[in-house]
Amino acid sequence: MAGDSAVLEARGVSVGYGAIPVVRELDLTVGRGEVVALLGANGAGKTTTLMALAGLLPLSAGAVYLHGKQTTDTLFRRVRRGLSYVPEERGIFRQLTVMENLRLGRGDPARAIELMPPLGALTQRRAGLLSGGEQQMLSLARALAAEPAVLLCDELSLGLAPLIVERLLERISVAAQAGLGVLLVEQQVRSALMVADRAYVLRRGRVVMSGTASELAERLDEIESHYLSGLETADERR
Ligand SMILES: Nc1ncnc2c1ncn2[C@@H]1O[C@H](COP(=O)(O)OP(=O)(O)OP(=O)(O)O)[C@@H](O)[C@H]1O
Ligand SMILES: [Mg+2]
Repeated sequence: MAGDSAVLEARGVSVGYGAIPVVRELDLTVGRGEVVALLGANGAGKTTTLMALAGLLPLSAGAVYLHGKQTTDTLFRRVRRGLSYVPEERGIFRQLTVMENLRLGRGDPARAIELMPPLGALTQRRAGLLSGGEQQMLSLARALAAEPAVLLCDELSLGLAPLIVERLLERISVAAQAGLGVLLVEQQVRSALMVADRAYVLRRGRVVMSGTASELAERLDEIESHYLSGLETADERR
């Protein structure tokens, strides 16, 4: 049995692509109302971890628990049980307008605009024409409007100005205060640790460090020089 307060949990999860192992023996929990950061260099296995938790990759070992119950559901069914996944490539329909994108979400479009007011002026614009920051606002607002229990968020800040990142993280933080559990993959480690309660550091597919955000913030220099610089290739992990 998974812990009662964990809304999402991975136990001994190993996952990869075909014969290539990427993430190995991962133990991770996200509690209700908790923001958890998942850190690691390029290629460390962060996106792979989120995809496994979302039900997009078959596990080669271990198990995922949603609301304390082991699940092998597809993403579609996990979404119906309160999981929301905002992928790196944003997951919006570029040919559709902002409003059409919001209507395709599980939440109320008006609620999404309330969460991210700048979207109000953009409702009739095609999503593909939005700036990077506006697209991120759209995908995050759509995800949050559905009032999920747990949000998996991949590289929200990619290519965005610090001020926009701050605004997006602020929304996430407010939602967490209302009970949302969040697993946040983030390149901007300092910003991530500012909103996170806890964090895990992945290196070559394994958790090499974990703790409260303030513990990890104190060791930021060490983390940045040892675990966050450079690129980790699949060859190195063999
Ligand atoms: N579809 C795939 N088939 C084979 N290998 C893959 C596939 N997707 C990713 N990988 C490999 O798995 C490893 C982990 O990739 P992953 O995308 O999880 O890293 P990441 O931590 O998200 O990196 P980044 O910070 O660059 O987004 C990398 O070595 C990558 O080349
Ligand atoms: Mg990634």
